[in-house]
Amino acid sequence: MATERRALIMLFGATGDLATRKLYFAMYNLYIKGNIHDHFAVIGTARNKFNDEQFRELVIKSVNSSVKNADKKTLNDFASHFYYEAHDVTDSAHYSVLRDKADELDKKYDLQGNRIFYLSMAPNFFGVVAKNLKTQNVLSTNGGFNRLVIEKPFGRDFASAKALNDALSASFNEDQIFRIDHYLGKEMIQNIEALRFGNTIFEALWNNRYIDNIQVTLAEDLGVEERAGYYDNSGALRDMVQNHIMQIVSLLAMEQPVAFKDVDIRAEKVKALRSLRVYNVAEASVNFVRGQYDPEGKNPGYRQEAGVPSDSRTETFVAGKLLFDNYRWSGTPFYIRTGKKLAGKFTRVDVVFKKPLIDIFAFPQSGSTPLTENVLTIFVDPAQGFSLRVNAKNGDQGFHTEPVDLKFIEDKTRDVPQPYERLIHDVLKGDGTNFSSWQEVGYAWKFVDQIRRVWDIQQPMFPNYQPGTMGPVAADELLTKDHRQWIYKLNQ
Ligand SMILES: NC(=O)c1ccc[n+]([C@@H]2O[C@H](COP(=O)([O-])OP(=O)(O)OC[C@H]3O[C@@H](n4cnc5c(N)ncnc54)[C@H](OP(=O)(O)O)[C@@H]3O)[C@@H](O)[C@H]2O)c1
Repeated sequence: MATERRALIMLFGATGDLATRKLYFAMYNLYIKGNIHDHFAVIGTARNKFNDEQFRELVIKSVNSSVKNADKKTLNDFASHFYYEAHDVTDSAHYSVLRDKADELDKKYDLQGNRIFYLSMAPNFFGVVAKNLKTQNVLSTNGGFNRLVIEKPFGRDFASAKALNDALSASFNEDQIFRIDHYLGKEMIQNIEALRFGNTIFEALWNNRYIDNIQVTLAEDLGVEERAGYYDNSGALRDMVQNHIMQIVSLLAMEQPVAFKDVDIRAEKVKALRSLRVYNVAEASVNFVRGQYDPEGKNPGYRQEAGVPSDSRTETFVAGKLLFDNYRWSGTPFYIRTGKKLAGKFTRVDVVFKKPLIDIFAFPQSGSTPLTENVLTIFVDPAQGFSLRVNAKNGDQGFHTEPVDLKFIEDKTRDVPQPYERLIHDVLKGDGTNFSSWQEVGYAWKFVDQIRRVWDIQQPMFPNYQPGTMGPVAADELLTKDHRQWIYKLNQ
């Protein structure tokens, strides 16, 4: 049974790509499930001059593009909670219009002063909006909550992230700031904690005595598409590693939290990130590799994409080895990789256990295949589920072992909430579990900045990988030089 939450959502960037592709659909799902219903209102803002009706049409169109056969009356009722104010976020004086509208809707829908400010716009505006919300008295003061939701990217290095955080902190406390990392809204990323802390068979073995290495892969099959302007200034390291991958790695590496509460989970993630070894120049050079995709047939390589300089040194692929200097993980590397134009679009985690110390089945005439490592694979998307590879007798005459997979894949017809639906729900509840805290963001930047520093002084050999592969040869060599292999290989 859903609990209805009361709040005003003030959405900055209400006409943008994220809002129209994801946010209205997410809010609609919350509405039909009763998580928001009678006591919510949305004020959409952007510079475009819409009236309420035009805005509602945009909302209805957005939902209809994601939901087949949405009930017309329900959708109209939902859209009737949406209001629009044309507003330039740099115009301080105009915030009074937003304040008056918020006060009016607060009374109309009995919202009890609860306000969510969702910044779905370019990050260079985050600071100015936060400042104006406070100085122009848009924050509620009658005992309701004020929460700020911000999208990525959070800075482009530690220094800029800190400056942004200082700007936000002048208006909002840390527990009021919800930094979105939509990977944390994914079902199977949240399942990492359930698998680890809900199962003795995993958590008892979750350390360097029994785990040989852990592999995290975030693969995209598309190229840079229309995002060249943003992407060429960012690259895969900043776009994917600093946030999504570091968040996943910290969930895999952390100690068990005292309780399943946001403050306790964040404390453990921060501790894990603090023990991540920040590389010096020599270590960064050998433990991280980068790539940029080649042209293929008529398809452009990265340097031929519209908006990308023909001599761009921006990486579209990263692979790396991460080492934690703590008792649990010392000697067990975490390998990560992500890139564009790879062999498929998928995210997975492979936890590779050590082989038994002695293979008693490997007597010379047995014909048995040598024992393989047990592997726990967490399929994050598109399939959601996990598998555990174990060695078992193969049923033939004689005694031969072979690896078999114990597999659970979530039923596709089950209504598993999409990340944005979960995350907006969490904001309504005030639960920061699935958002990045400032400390996590800061430590992640400190690690990534070191790699970037080394890469900025070394000339890359770009382009260096074929579209449709799993990246440059160097990414495989990163593991083979450690006598290991990626569990996911091409043509599997
Ligand atoms: N799109 C995605 O899938 C995605 C995924 C992850 C994260 N994000 C993040 O989400 C945020 C929004 O991305 P987006 O793709 O939706 O951007 P977008 O399509 O460029 O939309 C930007 C929005 O901001 C408004 N805007 C721009 N300048 C403004 C100003 N001075 N005052 C008021 N409104 C202004 C725009 O409307 P007007 O021009 O009419 O003012 C528009 O509604 C960014 O931080 C992005 O990095 C996006």
